[in-house]
Amino acid sequence: MTASDWLGLAGQTCVVTGAAGGIGRETCLELVRHGARVAALDLHADGLQGTVAAARELGGEARAVVCDISDADAVTAAEVTVREALGPCDVLVNNAGLVRGAPIADISITEWQFVLDVNLTGAMLCAQAFGRAMRERGAGAIVHTASICGSQPLAFAGSYSPSKSALLMFSRQLAAEWAPDCVRSNVVSPGLVRTPMTEETYRRPGFAEARAEAVPLGRVAGPAEMTGAIVFLASDRAAYITGQEITVDGGLSQTLMSTVPR
Ligand SMILES: NC(=O)c1ccc[n+]([C@@H]2O[C@H](COP(=O)([O-])OP(=O)(O)OC[C@H]3O[C@@H](n4cnc5c(N)ncnc54)[C@H](O)[C@@H]3O)[C@@H](O)[C@H]2O)c1
Repeated sequence: MTASDWLGLAGQTCVVTGAAGGIGRETCLELVRHGARVAALDLHADGLQGTVAAARELGGEARAVVCDISDADAVTAAEVTVREALGPCDVLVNNAGLVRGAPIADISITEWQFVLDVNLTGAMLCAQAFGRAMRERGAGAIVHTASICGSQPLAFAGSYSPSKSALLMFSRQLAAEWAPDCVRSNVVSPGLVRTPMTEETYRRPGFAEARAEAVPLGRVAGPAEMTGAIVFLASDRAAYITGQEITVDGGLSQTLMSTVPR
């Protein structure tokens, strides 16, 4: 075994959602570095082209598939496209997600439901569609990108925290239901990451520095720092791990007792 295939991902067909940029793009590139074939799914064709071009520059095989993961028919069609192009799915990274600011006091049902439809229902639809081949074969791994906001409320952000909290439980339920088929389900929960989702906020003067100071490891992460945990959980190295969460936050979620007088 060489250093580059110690994860056992070489030749595997991996589907990554939300792959037009940020954590999804970096995950595609890390999977390709480990010899996997990658299907990159997203709403945004332009961003996907950038991901696929970067993957091919690394010598990898990658396909862009435009897909709204909250649309059941679109997900079904995407699964067929991926299977015909790259073969049945071995690994699914349920990474697509979004956040919308809104106070609970006056959030509309449309805004509330929109985020749940993508962050929770979209993950379920992808698991159903891409998990079918894994269950039939009796092998596969699903990794969901949740957030520390699944365990800590992100105030004034509508249904974002509820959606990520539900995704954590969804992953554990999936782990229980599909363990007999040897399909694993785990979560990576990022902390503060500078990506297209958050970039506008980080451009505010002093904001990035102030956030970095709040993190025990002293910095805000880049998207590539999330990929080690994701590819590990996707790989055979994690063959006996299911229903678990790895938090990748530089220690931020362990600071509660540092915020109170002592
Ligand atoms: N950036 C952070 O600080 C942070 C922290 C914790 C968790 N996360 C989570 O990480 C994941 C990746 O986010 P990111 O930070 O890389 O941001 P990002 O905005 O770069 O990536 C999210 C991607 O999801 C795609 N997407 C949104 N709705 C979709 C839909 N209906 N169908 C298909 N694709 C859709 C977007 O187009 C985008 O490319 C998200 O689930 C996010 O909630 C991010």
